[in-house]
Amino acid sequence: MRLLLALLAVAALPSAGAESHWCYEIQAKTSTCLGPDKWSGNCQKDRQSPINIVTTKAKLDENLGRFFFSGYDKKQKWTVQNNGHSVMMLPENEATITGGGLPAKYRAIQLHLHWSTLLDEGSEHSLDGDRFAMEMHIVHEKEKGTSRNVKEVQNPEDEIAVLAFLVEAGSTVNAGFQPLVEALTKVPKPEMNTTMRESTLLELLPKEEKLRHYFRYLGSLTTPSCDEKVIWTVFKEPIQLHKEQILAFSQKLFYDKDQKLNMTDNVRPLQRRGQRTVFRSQAPGRLLPWSLPALLVPMLPCLMADFLR
Ligand SMILES: *[C@@H]1O[C@H](CO)[C@@H](O)[C@H](O)[C@H]1NC(C)=O
Ligand SMILES: *[C@@H]1O[C@H](CO)[C@@H](O)[C@H](O)[C@H]1NC(C)=O
Ligand SMILES: [Zn+2]
Repeated sequence: MRLLLALLAVAALPSAGAESHWCYEIQAKTSTCLGPDKWSGNCQKDRQSPINIVTTKAKLDENLGRFFFSGYDKKQKWTVQNNGHSVMMLPENEATITGGGLPAKYRAIQLHLHWSTLLDEGSEHSLDGDRFAMEMHIVHEKEKGTSRNVKEVQNPEDEIAVLAFLVEAGSTVNAGFQPLVEALTKVPKPEMNTTMRESTLLELLPKEEKLRHYFRYLGSLTTPSCDEKVIWTVFKEPIQLHKEQILAFSQKLFYDKDQKLNMTDNVRPLQRRGQRTVFRSQAPGRLLPWSLPALLVPMLPCLMADFLR
């Protein structure tokens, strides 16, 4: 009888260790971890991310003005960590954002990326059905007491603001990304961390004047528990990295301690947009009346050369 009870007790224990951890599709193929269709928490709800953005259907919102970045230009020593799902940069100094139609001030807490070896499969969001080589997420947390709304109600829908940048392969090395790319070799396995060569957040971004054009919607974290508390900004202007810089992420990083599975395709599948509206910031400035001659003047010698030929 005692033995039977003991056996029952063992059987009733949650199968320790086998209580599988979440993972991406590519990992679920070769292990017992839980792939995206089995993610729990809030992951099966209906205001999830990422989504496909149909740019022509995005609704213009006049309140979506420019962003104001603070501390983004300050050199700092980032901690870089392989967290088993991505590579993450953690700031030592404060960096915050306001503007951009955000309801408060938000503080950067970490930055990470998603990628693939295929240059049209590595982003989480897509624009008109097109995926990009990578996607960078700068995750910010709402600062308490900075809401523009006087009667500040804790609105859980926008607790987190993620700035999402699509990345495409260009023909030149992006010097701003080199400190991170160089740090990858130091963190091949999960839980490893290192310190990056000093650099700024601004060095990672497209030119500031290009950051006026973006899409906005309310969604979720793209990893479990997929909390629906993210105010998303997806910038229209992609970041350009050299192809070798992009591939370095898949080559240097691994999902597992045995370094058997390269960390790649760490991308959540698209989620339904459902009833949500995607907004866009003010349309790009029209060609101003004086800009046409300004464009033509430098072309004149060419035109004349053609004419004289
Ligand atoms: C980095 O790793 C070391 C050694 O494993 C650990 O002691 C330290 O707490 C880690 N630092 C961070 C910021 O995770
Ligand atoms: C996987 O990692 C190895 C070792 O770094 C590398 O040689 C190989 O190119 C990587 N595979 C892919 C598909 O990136
Ligand atoms: Zn992310």
